[in-house]
Amino acid sequence: MALKVGILGAGFIGRVHALNLRRDERVALVGVADAVPEAAARLAAEVGATPLDGLDKLLDLGVDAVYVTTPNTHHVEPVVRALQHGAHVFSEKPMATSLEGAWTIREAAGRARGVYQIGFNRRFANVYRFAKDLIDGGRLTPLAAQLKHNRGELQHPAWTADAGVTGGYLYETPVHLFDMARFLFGDVAVIQGVARQVVYPELDEFAMVLTCRSGVIATVTSVAHATWLFPSERVEVYGAHAAVVTEELERATFSPGPREAADGVDCAAMPFERKWGYVMEDRVFVDAALGERPPAVTADDGYRATELVEACYQAVRERRPITLPLPAPAGPG
Ligand SMILES: NC(=O)c1ccc[n+]([C@@H]2O[C@H](COP(=O)([O-])OP(=O)(O)OC[C@H]3O[C@@H](n4cnc5c(N)ncnc54)[C@H](O)[C@@H]3O)[C@@H](O)[C@H]2O)c1
Repeated sequence: MALKVGILGAGFIGRVHALNLRRDERVALVGVADAVPEAAARLAAEVGATPLDGLDKLLDLGVDAVYVTTPNTHHVEPVVRALQHGAHVFSEKPMATSLEGAWTIREAAGRARGVYQIGFNRRFANVYRFAKDLIDGGRLTPLAAQLKHNRGELQHPAWTADAGVTGGYLYETPVHLFDMARFLFGDVAVIQGVARQVVYPELDEFAMVLTCRSGVIATVTSVAHATWLFPSERVEVYGAHAAVVTEELERATFSPGPREAADGVDCAAMPFERKWGYVMEDRVFVDAALGERPPAVTADDGYRATELVEACYQAVRERRPITLPLPAPAGPG
């Protein structure tokens, strides 16, 4: 029997997931809910589902799984409610916009019948899989790294300029980099750095240093007003006379030695939804919901990325290195 899926949040990324799910013969996309009726109606018509006005109506439809694709500060409440209802949940990043929120979800996911997966799509993008396979296969032992992830602007969608909705710029874009640092190098031990507020009414330029438990030292830079000059996202990982460089989600190049030919992947011709990892992350979520494998990106991964964002803001605010893990938030359930 098909997995009955509902989408909560019929905007840009809700549509990307809905179109992927519609192509998966194991899925019946039954409902699309949005706070704006026209948005729900538009996407529901495109994918052949019922338009609805909120989570309650999706749950009343008897969905097995819910995609939470609303703006950042609207993730915790529907995720917890859907999990408590017994549904599987895929949530877009960020998991939450506070350590308390992330803790609450991790606890709820730990108790839930359903699975929880967080939308760190880059883990499934070919360029990052290429880098990860080099590391896991022993061809590259990371020693140091530079990670850059800029945004061209905080104008589209308009809510990205409102820290009350994003939870802060780090939750909007660089949270992907923090997860990528953990994915490639393991847990972070210390974070330090500087940031300032320049163009937007919040901190919008960051230069950070992450020291990982593995010993890897990684710089992380992010500017919110950089224009979309290519590549706005670039990762360089250095071993002993070996390195891999990713450019956007387009290309990755590996140099195995100072006098050896480089090799790599070029993803320019791939359809966007595959190149960015969305097709694969949806497929493995459905696998997990059907009990075929554990979730590929877990509630703990979401919590650790949230912790990194919070530690980064704390390091900037208090002008000192912050050691991880952070103390558990006071009083969470
Ligand atoms: N993983 C990625 O690569 C990626 C890419 C884009 C967006 N995102 C994340 O996905 C989320 C959505 O981003 P987007 O670009 O699709 O935004 P969007 O503005 O295009 O769409 C959001 C939709 O949610 C609806 N909405 C807002 N509040 C709601 C609520 N309380 N209940 C129901 N519907 C509500 C809005 O009406 C809108 O239709 C954000 O958290 C964003 O960070 C992730």
